[in-house]
Amino acid sequence: MKQVDWEEFKRLRGHEKRPHFEREGEIFHVIMAQQFNRAFLDRICALATKIRKVARTHTGARFLKGLLDDKRAMLYFVQPSTRTFLSFNSACQILGLDILEVRDPSISSEKKGETQDDSVRTFSSYCDLVIMRHAQKDFSEKMAWMMNFIGRPVPIINAGSGKDQHPTQALLDIYTLHRSFENYTGIDGINIALVGDLLRGRTVRSLSYLMKHYEDVKIYFVAPPELQVADDIKHYLRENGIFFEEGDNLAEVIPLADAVYMTRIQDEWDQGEEPSKIDYSRYCFKPEYLELLKPNAVILHPLPRRAEIPPEIDNDKRAMYWRQTRNGMWVRAALIAIIFRKDKQIVDY
Ligand code: NCD
Repeated sequence: MKQVDWEEFKRLRGHEKRPHFEREGEIFHVIMAQQFNRAFLDRICALATKIRKVARTHTGARFLKGLLDDKRAMLYFVQPSTRTFLSFNSACQILGLDILEVRDPSISSEKKGETQDDSVRTFSSYCDLVIMRHAQKDFSEKMAWMMNFIGRPVPIINAGSGKDQHPTQALLDIYTLHRSFENYTGIDGINIALVGDLLRGRTVRSLSYLMKHYEDVKIYFVAPPELQVADDIKHYLRENGIFFEEGDNLAEVIPLADAVYMTRIQDEWDQGEEPSKIDYSRYCFKPEYLELLKPNAVILHPLPRRAEIPPEIDNDKRAMYWRQTRNGMWVRAALIAIIFRKDKQIVDY
């Protein structure tokens, strides 16, 4: 493949970048939701389920732990994280990888003026995989691009990039939807409401890209007008013929939805501006909405939550967000297994 410089690479469209994130026709770096196709989504869901079942017995768990016990993963998380960090950590442990971590750059050599690019290059000397969360939109992408030019390239996984993308969260959201609807029609044909701060919420952006791979899906974006989903996502959906509607009335959308995906207001990005005048209570799942929700529908949330889902909803059987959290661990283990080409061994077990 032709090597391109960073400026040229940045300008490529999602599907044009895909081959640069692969090695020998198989996934290597995981940077953006546009790089997955339906076959990959089906495969990772099946593999996550297989890992979940194998891990139930002590012998199975030991088999999994032996698969990558000669490898090390670096968790470079320079933005706050609870679930993504812990589930990647657990996923690595399931497969036997040792873990190194940098979460606070103020106690690493970045404090001495080392560039973040050099930090990541350093990690690649000590480990076999770098999983990173970063506030800068294209940092993980740039590091994946850089791996093409160094002696010992290692895969990069984007565990959240600024306001832009969170591709592995989208995988676990898909896995949760897959498990929720596998006994009905599957994800094909569902109506999904995406609710909250859709402008700055990276999970919703990544998940929206993936909905393209399912037939007859309808998306309802419910957000305050100033935080509605951005034009690039709408353009992508239009281009791919995916039905979507925008609105700000949650109660009206709930009876139509098979999945209601709640998100919090991402006000950490407000810094220095006037405190927002938006009435967030309009984007909360009120207990009385449970009456409006279809009996087989599900409520999802990437978490952390604030007031948008009150704790009394947690006991409803349609509340799926705590299971979503655990699904994250299985799907991330499946992803790492695929990156290291261990999936066939697991399937054959
Ligand atoms: C999300 C994130 O960091 O983007 N959390 C997560 O990874 N589960 C959502 C959020 O912070 O609101």
